[in-house]
Amino acid sequence: MNAHDSEKVIGTLERQGYAQVDSEEAADLLLYNTCSIRDKAEQKVFHRLNDYKKLAKAGKRFAVIGCVAQQEGEKIFDRAPYVSLVAGSASYRRLPELIARVEAGETRVTGLDDRQTEETFETEFTARKNPYRAYITIIEGCDKFCAYCVVPYTRGKERSRGSESVLEEARRIAGMGYTEIQLLGQNVNSYRDPTGKKSFAELLAAVGEVPGVRRVRFMTSHPRDFTRDIVEAIDAVPALCDHVHLPVQSGSTRVLRQMAREYTRDWYLERIAWMKAAKREISISTDVIVGFPGETPEEFEQTVTLLDVVQYDAVFAFKYSPRPNTPSLVMIDSIPEAEKSKRLQILLDRQKEIQKVNYERHLGSTLEVMVEGTNTAREQVVGRSSQNKPVNFTWPHPIAPAPGSYQRVKITRTFPNSLAGEAV
Ligand code: 5AD
Ligand code: SF4
Repeated sequence: MNAHDSEKVIGTLERQGYAQVDSEEAADLLLYNTCSIRDKAEQKVFHRLNDYKKLAKAGKRFAVIGCVAQQEGEKIFDRAPYVSLVAGSASYRRLPELIARVEAGETRVTGLDDRQTEETFETEFTARKNPYRAYITIIEGCDKFCAYCVVPYTRGKERSRGSESVLEEARRIAGMGYTEIQLLGQNVNSYRDPTGKKSFAELLAAVGEVPGVRRVRFMTSHPRDFTRDIVEAIDAVPALCDHVHLPVQSGSTRVLRQMAREYTRDWYLERIAWMKAAKREISISTDVIVGFPGETPEEFEQTVTLLDVVQYDAVFAFKYSPRPNTPSLVMIDSIPEAEKSKRLQILLDRQKEIQKVNYERHLGSTLEVMVEGTNTAREQVVGRSSQNKPVNFTWPHPIAPAPGSYQRVKITRTFPNSLAGEAV
């Protein structure tokens, strides 16, 4: 999401006559895009800003944008006086105007008060940096207020983009030669078309039917809002990838209630059952938080058993970290760091075993792989299957296939996190 925000900001500024340079030293204006989802994000940002002090010389200007900017606000000016602009993502639409004020010599310019906006940040001038995958934001902000999460406070109110505007961007992207599109939102399942024309599943299907589009992904889903018609759309439209990322966070209904996730273990497993019953084999991945305040060893064990039941193809697991302004901040962060680390390791070890078996099932099969590039030694081509599994493969010709091209690959070896084979 942040990478795509940067693409949009860069495109907007290029439109204003700015040009991107290769190094911080060469820049007259530096925009530092920040994330505050986990850990001590703000400390890292202040640390980095400290390094920028050395770069701060006459004429050079600094801006901090993104979630740490929104969260820390004017405190950033106090700690790093050479910063002239602080803006959160809900204010990006106003960046040209804000930067113009910086250029005019203002020193404490802010874009921090737009979180209640109904507007989305749309631009046709996105500077797409990824050679094989194009991102499209369909919904911004989040109204879910999960107890541990900073996003509703940093990115603001949920607002969706019109389906026609999304489809227009998809057609434009396809016209540029992109064949893979990823639809983005903090919670794409709560997409509400302001023009009332399309549900999320209908929009997904419509993007999958845009001529030239071969792969459509979406990120990220929320179990509370995940509907069965999404699975039906995946079954019906071949361009929709057979992969769903459905963050569970915990396998314990009590912990889920504490997290304000608004679903139970059974509710989650029902959605998994829809996917398992689909005609296509849908790969499922998830996010997990271990060591949420008050999580007992038994409750943690329920997350481990959930992995056994679902048989995920990928699990992104994080130790709970308290975030500013969030409801869980008042809960006692009761689980010692060492215990959190232990739980994380147990979870990752179990998932490694599950994934080994899951990945071994591909041995001998032939998969369609979209090429992303080569490995660093340039011995192998690297890419991904429709299920989002990394595939490394040998190539019989001297010139590597182009990023974004599709190759058929016979799988001859498997690893816990990737597949390997040869082009056929
Ligand atoms: N502590 C740990 N993990 C978190 N995540 C979000 N907030 C926190 C937090 N305070 C994780 C969730 C989410 C992913 C993007 O980051 O698992 O799905
Ligand atoms: Fe955060 Fe919950 Fe919104 Fe996801 S759904 S962005 S975890 S508040």
